[in-house]
Amino acid sequence: MHPQSKQVDSLPREVPRHVAVIMDGNGRWAKRRGFSRSRGHSEGAESVRAVVSECRRLGVSQLTLYAFSTENWKRPATEIHFLMNLLGRFLAAERKGLMKNHIRLKAIGRLEALPKGVRAQLQKSIDLSRDNDGMILRLALNYGGRQEIMDAARKLAIEARRLDADPPELTEAEFRRVLYDEEMTDPDLMIRTGGETRMSNFLLWQCSYTELYFTPICWPEFREPELHEAFQSYARRERRFGAVKPERPHARTPSVVESR
Ligand code: FPP
Repeated sequence: MHPQSKQVDSLPREVPRHVAVIMDGNGRWAKRRGFSRSRGHSEGAESVRAVVSECRRLGVSQLTLYAFSTENWKRPATEIHFLMNLLGRFLAAERKGLMKNHIRLKAIGRLEALPKGVRAQLQKSIDLSRDNDGMILRLALNYGGRQEIMDAARKLAIEARRLDADPPELTEAEFRRVLYDEEMTDPDLMIRTGGETRMSNFLLWQCSYTELYFTPICWPEFREPELHEAFQSYARRERRFGAVKPERPHARTPSVVESR
């Protein structure tokens, strides 16, 4: 167990099928300890390892991690370079583990803008793990929710032009088909670490009815016990998807006639 993890632990009753995570607070975690931001990201990579293997163990079927947003390019070049390097090394180092645990790697985002070396490592793991059926680990890289919706709209417009067709009668299912990963189901639970309570352009289409869980704990300290706590919070919620809670049948009170 991570030395800083709280001693609150018991296994969750109901495990969400698809978990999405905004891994925030690496920099603040490092700053508080007088470390460099890079050290925070390296420690964050350890949390990625811990959370991936625990999700797999608990039977989560999809885990989507926000590893680099379209807005993260605004960071200093040295930090971007470090993050891309860390990602490349992580992909290479974890390849065996993915295979051993039957995890299938996928990625969403404008991947063409990633450095060549990272794309090569990514593609290698995606290709190698293609037939794994244990859990999908999906990395959101150079990802933005608005960009994903705009890219989908563009694909539909191009298709319509190619087919010389009228604008299609669009269903949600058809729109989903042109999102970055047509196999992706809506997340059941979205976790954001680091204390901020916003979506930051993550999975805007897919999270319409997702349960949100915000924790002040910074990502480098988010390990197995903290994941269990998030899952326990999820298990306590009642999901209605806009409907009303079905009424419980009233207990029958004997009528005057019956009681005669
Ligand atoms: C947010 O913390 C974190 C990121 C922008 C990058 C996430 C990257 C990792 C967890 C490391 C490695 C990832 C993989 C998949 C190997 P922040 O820097 O915004 O923290 P701050 O808000 O405290 O500054």
